[in-house]
Amino acid sequence: MSIQEICRVAECARLGEGLYSITMHAPAICEKTQVGQFVHIACGEGNLLRRPISICDWQDGNLRIVFQVKGEGTKWLAARKEGDELDVLGPLGHGFDTKALGAKPVFIGGGIGVPPMLACVKKAAGEGAQPRAILGFRNKDAVILENDFKAVCEVFVTTDDGSYARHGFVTDVLKEIVADATGVAACGPKPMLKAIAAIADEAGLPCQVSMEERMGCGIGACLVCACALKAENGETRYGHVCKDGPVFDTKEVEW
Ligand SMILES: Cc1cc2nc3c(=O)[nH]c(=O)nc-3n(C[C@H](O)[C@H](O)[C@H](O)COP(=O)(O)OP(=O)(O)OC[C@H]3O[C@@H](n4cnc5c(N)ncnc54)[C@H](O)[C@@H]3O)c2cc1C
Ligand code: FES
Repeated sequence: MSIQEICRVAECARLGEGLYSITMHAPAICEKTQVGQFVHIACGEGNLLRRPISICDWQDGNLRIVFQVKGEGTKWLAARKEGDELDVLGPLGHGFDTKALGAKPVFIGGGIGVPPMLACVKKAAGEGAQPRAILGFRNKDAVILENDFKAVCEVFVTTDDGSYARHGFVTDVLKEIVADATGVAACGPKPMLKAIAAIADEAGLPCQVSMEERMGCGIGACLVCACALKAENGETRYGHVCKDGPVFDTKEVEW
C-alpha cells in the first residue's frame, strides 16, 4: 500500500556535477519502506508526471534520495531548498530480498544505480551477513557515496577511464570475488545487469537486479513501464516494472 505524503526537505547537498542528495521528513513512507523500492515525486506544476527515484536510505522518519539531473523534472528537484515541501508517493514497487542472497552477498551499483544499494548493504549487515559492495562509475567526477558504503562494508570502486580507483568495470571485480560469494544484487545500466546476471548464473548464485523503464502512473495502471519477462512455460510474458519490479530475479528477465 503506497502513501501520498507531503514531505518537508530537511537537507540538500550537491554531491558532484549534476548530482544531488535530498533528505526529507517522510515518517509514514519510511515506516513501510523495503530496500530497493522507489518514490514517485511531483516535480512542480509544469511537469505533469511524477518522477521515479529510488530510496537510497532512511532513518528515524527521514528518507534520502540521490539523483542526477537529466531533464526538467530532476532540474526542478535539484533546485529545492531546506524547508520546501515535496509531494511524494511511496514506497512503490517490489524491492530486494537480501536474506535470499545468503551470508556473503555482493551488492553492485553502476553510476546512478549506486544509491539504492546503500540501504541494501546496511540491511544485509544488520541481518548478520558479510556484504561487499562494488561501485562502478564513468570517471572520478561521477563517484558518489563511497564513504557511506565504506562505513558499512568492504568496497571496491572502479572507473571506466581509470581516473580514480581501479581502472575497469564492476564485472572485472565480480569475476574475482564471485567464488567467495553467496548471492548478487545489482542496479545500473541494462548491459551491466545482463553481464552480472551471466556471471552469477555461471557461478550458480541467486541474482536480483533492479530494472529501469520510463514510467507514467508508477502504480501498475497505465502500462508505460511494461517489460518482457520469462513465463514458467518458457514463453514471454509482460510485467510492470513499477509494480512487479523494479527488482526481479534474473531468472525471470527476458534480456
Ligand atoms: C524505478 C526507478 C528508479 C530510479 N531511481 C533513480 C535514482 O535513484 N536516481 C536518479 O538519478 N534517477 C533515477 N531514476 C531515473 C529517473 O526517474 C529519471 O532520470 C527521471 O525521471 C528523469 O526525469 P526528468 O524530468 O529530469 O527528465 P526528462 O527526460 O525530461 O523526463 C521526461 C519524462 O520521461 C521520464 N523519464 C526520463 N528518463 C527516465 C528514466 N530513466 N526512468 C524512468 N522515467 C524516465 C520522466 O519521468 C518524465 O516523465 C529511476 C528510474 C526508475 C524507473
Ligand atoms: S508506470 Fe504505469 S503501469 Fe507502471
